[in-house]
Amino acid sequence: MIQLRLRPGRRHRVLQGHPWVFSNQLAGIPDALEPGDRVEVLDSQGGFVGLGYAHPNTLITARILERQDGVEVDSHWLAQRLEDALELRRRVCGGRTGFRWVHAEADGLPGLIIDRYEDEQGPRAVLTANTAGMERWREDIEALLQDRFGLRGALWKCDGRGRQLEGLAPRVEPAFGDTEGWVLDDDGVQVGFDAAGGQKTGLFLDMWENRRRMVPALARGRVADLFSYVGQWGLHMAAAGASEVICVDRSAGAIEQVVANAARNDLQVEAVAADVKTWLAEQEEGSFDSVVCDPPAFIQSRKNLPAGLHAYRLLYAQALRAVRPGGFAVLASCSHHLDDAAFADLIAAAAKAAKRSARVLIRGDQAPCHPVSLSVPESRYLKCWLLQVG
Ligand SMILES: C[S@@+](CC[C@H](N)C(=O)[O-])C[C@H]1O[C@@H](n2cnc3c(N)ncnc32)[C@H](O)[C@@H]1O
Repeated sequence: MIQLRLRPGRRHRVLQGHPWVFSNQLAGIPDALEPGDRVEVLDSQGGFVGLGYAHPNTLITARILERQDGVEVDSHWLAQRLEDALELRRRVCGGRTGFRWVHAEADGLPGLIIDRYEDEQGPRAVLTANTAGMERWREDIEALLQDRFGLRGALWKCDGRGRQLEGLAPRVEPAFGDTEGWVLDDDGVQVGFDAAGGQKTGLFLDMWENRRRMVPALARGRVADLFSYVGQWGLHMAAAGASEVICVDRSAGAIEQVVANAARNDLQVEAVAADVKTWLAEQEEGSFDSVVCDPPAFIQSRKNLPAGLHAYRLLYAQALRAVRPGGFAVLASCSHHLDDAAFADLIAAAAKAAKRSARVLIRGDQAPCHPVSLSVPESRYLKCWLLQVG
């Protein structure tokens, strides 16, 4: 097996438990290294750090899979990691039929995402491999999911930006079995989605706990679900008793799904394909009892932090202005460069700009099927706060 040796120094994060080894932390990269090759990472003294896989041309050269010396990283090892991850979800996902089964680095499987959905016919999954190292495991993953975990279908949905960095082409294709017609029973609301053609892995599975906690406060009167995607917040607010629900998203495909989902659940939901900022500018101030605002990440890297903060502030101010005094707002951000303190400052600045006050009622996080590894702070990204607007 190819060995990669760290440069001298104790500050390498991989020595503190982080799974990544950056190219500038290595004494050298062997010419023989091919994308996805298994490697043994050693410290500068030659001591064992971990087994992983590597790529010769990416900033993150190696990702650690196993830190115990002498353990074989084979399909039995992979099966055990999958088993552990599933057992964890069974304990923390409160009987849900859809959850993220594998959350990459945070489950000790860098580069791999698996979303699991179960209906009366059995479990299925949407799979994403973001690295050349995980691509090498493709057949083992398919065999395990089918034979050991009894899945009746699985779809590869590998079209994220991460793959470009690894020199991998997009790949969206059935892995095995039935991969048509996806409907999640989302805590009693039926949510259809397009697993192959939709965004990310098809559905955002990180919000369900926030919805469970926040929808009871939101579901009264006239409400808006901004950046609704296929309408999960709006559908839940409608099912829980809101009298008028408007979902807004600029994706025509997502809005078609909102319409289909409203019909599927026999709920009244208005679905608007529009840019949220333009749409909000046309709404009367204080005309909503509650607003949910869950935009895409505006801060993709540290260097666009100031521009991203500015965009969030403008948007959140617009959203808060649309809420009547005494009503509620859910403001969310999936930018991991924004920590809780900066998020609080941002909301305060947005409230000031909107000439409103805001009280924080619930500080929501990503659902527990998206664990946060303390040695991988990047694995925490979602903030979703329920506010009362004054
Ligand atoms: C984080 S997702 C929302 C997830 C959704 N709230 C849920 O719980 O499933 C962001 C959504 O914003 C939409 N979007 C991005 N930019 C937009 C814009 N300027 N106006 C309206 N929708 C936008 C995308 O189509 C995507 O559906």
